[in-house]
Amino acid sequence: MDFKPYLKKLTPYPPGKTVDEIKRELGIEGPVYKFNSNENPLGPSRKVVKVIKELAKTVNLYPEASYIELKRALAKKWGLSPENFILGNGSNEVIELVFKALINPGDEVLVSQPSFLMYEKFAQIYGAKVKVVPLDNKLKHDIPGLLRNLSNKTKVVFLDHPNNPTGSVLDRKDWGIFFKNLPENILVVIDEAYGEFIEDPEIPLGIEFLKNGFNVLVLRTFSKAYGLAGLRLGYGMAEKSLAQLLDSLRQPFNLNLFAYKAGLIALEDQAYLKKSLKIVKEGRRYLTQELSSLGFKVYPSQANFIMVDFGSVCEHLYQGLLRRGLLLRPLKPYGFPNSLRITIGLPEQNQLLVKNIKELLG
Ligand SMILES: Cc1ncc(COP(=O)(O)O)c(C=O)c1O
Repeated sequence: MDFKPYLKKLTPYPPGKTVDEIKRELGIEGPVYKFNSNENPLGPSRKVVKVIKELAKTVNLYPEASYIELKRALAKKWGLSPENFILGNGSNEVIELVFKALINPGDEVLVSQPSFLMYEKFAQIYGAKVKVVPLDNKLKHDIPGLLRNLSNKTKVVFLDHPNNPTGSVLDRKDWGIFFKNLPENILVVIDEAYGEFIEDPEIPLGIEFLKNGFNVLVLRTFSKAYGLAGLRLGYGMAEKSLAQLLDSLRQPFNLNLFAYKAGLIALEDQAYLKKSLKIVKEGRRYLTQELSSLGFKVYPSQANFIMVDFGSVCEHLYQGLLRRGLLLRPLKPYGFPNSLRITIGLPEQNQLLVKNIKELLG
């Protein structure tokens, strides 16, 4: 059979391991702590669980295909109109819709390295040429480097902000230089999967650029701050004609009933969101302090994870923690063999992690 030639080099996305996988593979009987996939350690909102239980009785019916209630609620939250929104089966799906809508084989997309791996993955699937620009020496998006790599074939620039896996962000000056020098026809996808965790008030958010008329698609997800990773719900905000085009390309029922209704409840549950942000911000400070005081390089992060350079003891710590049921994310696939990414956990989980690291260091 003749497969598409550009699919031959495709490698699968390396997802973080689940608790069951780890227990099976390593024969661990006790608890497993997930510091590896940037999930919410609080568990889901109780209000969401309640509505899911109620909805279970109606899964014989299709959901309402327009998803208008959730679009209206989001429009109210952001001061936009429902036509500015595209809802996706995770923000991942919205990323794919960008390729469906804009990319012809041979077009170029620009991504930082490292950044969220799915931009490159979809580029491979849709036959786009990927230009990768290394992060700068502070592990931030390299704005001059990105601008230097633009060409007349560039269609989209993907910027995860905060960046995954470093947690770095750009300041107003960086963004200013970027937009001043970027041709207007190039779409900038500002992926704010971790946007809720940005603490620094000086860091601009994508919504500001959208409202000021720049050619941007701002992505948000319910997987992180709202604790709904398993339901798969994310969205994009864009100027109406782009949002409507993306909406016309999705499957008719791309959100399942649970995700659609849970999204509405999660948006209302401000107490859950507040608690989840507090845990991340305090835990981020705690882990940064503790691991820095052990002599490791902790990169400044505005996300729900930190990247830590453990130097020569990285593999020893990773394996040792794994055997004890503490699961971290190795950053070798991202080009950092001596670094691990640690999702911020509950306070007692963070303390347990530090205690185990100290023990393994002897
Ligand atoms: C930067 C970034 N963007 C997008 C996603 C996808 O999130 P989801 O598809 O769960 O909304 C992730 C997931 O980890 C991510 O790290």
